[in-house]
Amino acid sequence: MKTAISLWGFLGLAAAVLPEWNSFPGHSPAIENRSLDEIYAAAKREHGSLVVLWGGDDVSQGQSTIDAWKARFPEIELNLTVDVSKYHDSRVNRQFQRTGSAGADIAVLQTLHDYPRWKKEGRLYPYKPAHWEDIWSTIRDPDAAFVPYFIFNFGSLVYNPNLLKKSNVPSTWKEFTRPEWKNKLVLTYPNDDDAVLYLFSIIINQYGWEWFDTLLQQNVKWVRGTGEPAAEIERNNSTRSLSFTTSVGGNLDSIDPKDPIMYWPQTGAIFASTPRPESAKLFMSWLLSDEHQKTFNGSYLVRKDLSSTAGKIWDHPSSSLTQFSTFMENREIVEWWKLQFETFIGTAQGDIDLLQEGK
Ligand SMILES: *[C@@H]1O[C@H](CO)[C@@H](O)[C@H](O)[C@H]1NC(C)=O
Ligand SMILES: *[C@@H]1O[C@H](CO)[C@@H](O)[C@H](O)[C@H]1NC(C)=O
Ligand SMILES: *[C@@H]1O[C@H](CO)[C@@H](O)[C@H](O)[C@H]1NC(C)=O
Ligand SMILES: *[C@@H]1O[C@H](CO)[C@@H](O)[C@H](O)[C@H]1NC(C)=O
Ligand SMILES: *[C@@H]1O[C@H](CO)[C@@H](O)[C@H](O)[C@H]1NC(C)=O
Repeated sequence: MKTAISLWGFLGLAAAVLPEWNSFPGHSPAIENRSLDEIYAAAKREHGSLVVLWGGDDVSQGQSTIDAWKARFPEIELNLTVDVSKYHDSRVNRQFQRTGSAGADIAVLQTLHDYPRWKKEGRLYPYKPAHWEDIWSTIRDPDAAFVPYFIFNFGSLVYNPNLLKKSNVPSTWKEFTRPEWKNKLVLTYPNDDDAVLYLFSIIINQYGWEWFDTLLQQNVKWVRGTGEPAAEIERNNSTRSLSFTTSVGGNLDSIDPKDPIMYWPQTGAIFASTPRPESAKLFMSWLLSDEHQKTFNGSYLVRKDLSSTAGKIWDHPSSSLTQFSTFMENREIVEWWKLQFETFIGTAQGDIDLLQEGK
């Protein structure tokens, strides 16, 4: 705790009373042993809506979570806002500097470098949700300051089967440089999303900048956000039929290339400043519960005791699950790659519909 206090002083941040639940070496919280209904009962005695910052770039990416929560815990109002992780974290950092409070109870984000720093600064509330021992240990914080709930990827080849035959979908990154892919691709600016950036770094490390030079001749439609490519190729009258910087949904289909792709554990944490710790615990335990995890069947799961039709992430021939956070923490490298792409395709143009600057 002393470390955290001096760090706060050093950073010149607002003085705040360190909560007694703050984690320090040798002091680890016990694993949640209450049922969801028991936590719900405790949470109902708290006041105000539970504010959750949810990383994404399309409102639909938060809707299923909101709907499922409402159906399961109708008496705890959930205020879940979707925005790109890099804007959520910027607002949290600003709010914290100004007021000493995060301004939200929970953050579930792609910006994995935030969590170790927030932990070091004493800004997270350590909590071991039920099933803690079933979460892959390499992707959860040993002191329980943050936990993954879902494994995302970019690099799966997402296509509209009404516009493109499965047998014509490429099987390697190299094939994207063939002339037939001219005017067919819609991709997210790699310099606007660090996970997409990491994917491009993997491909270029494998095939060289020559690959990117050739891709640039394909008249790619570059867009902001990773929901937008799916929305574009879902339109049956679209000239674009394929993307690898988006997620499958609706009428779309996807297959993985033979080449490496990227994975990351979408990670969540409770802020130490939460005035609603029981509601926050309920949310985290629910995200990791059997009943919620089974809605992700077909994807790789963060819990090793549950089986998915996708199999286990570690059996994937090129799993990069833990490498993304290493990449993210090296901001110098991230910046290096970003500017490489910016010198080719310029700054990201267009709006992410969710942009709410000044909020
Ligand atoms: C549950 O954990 C609490 C501490 O967090 C402990 O006091 C209690 O005895 C535990 N209950 C059971 C049934 O293990
Ligand atoms: C939801 O929380 C945000 C803070 O993230 C706040 O600006 C907004 O007013 C809240 N909305 C409601 C309906 O409470
Ligand atoms: C595209 O066409 C297919 C088959 O004709 C149809 O099932 C689907 O609903 C259409 N999608 C959209 C977004 O209109
Ligand atoms: C494609 O379909 C959408 C509706 O799904 C429509 O708004 C748009 O005008 C169409 N575009 C073309 C070029 O036909
Ligand atoms: C996922 O589906 C498979 C096949 O139906 C089933 O065996 C498995 O138990 C399911 N996993 C979960 C977590 O529900």
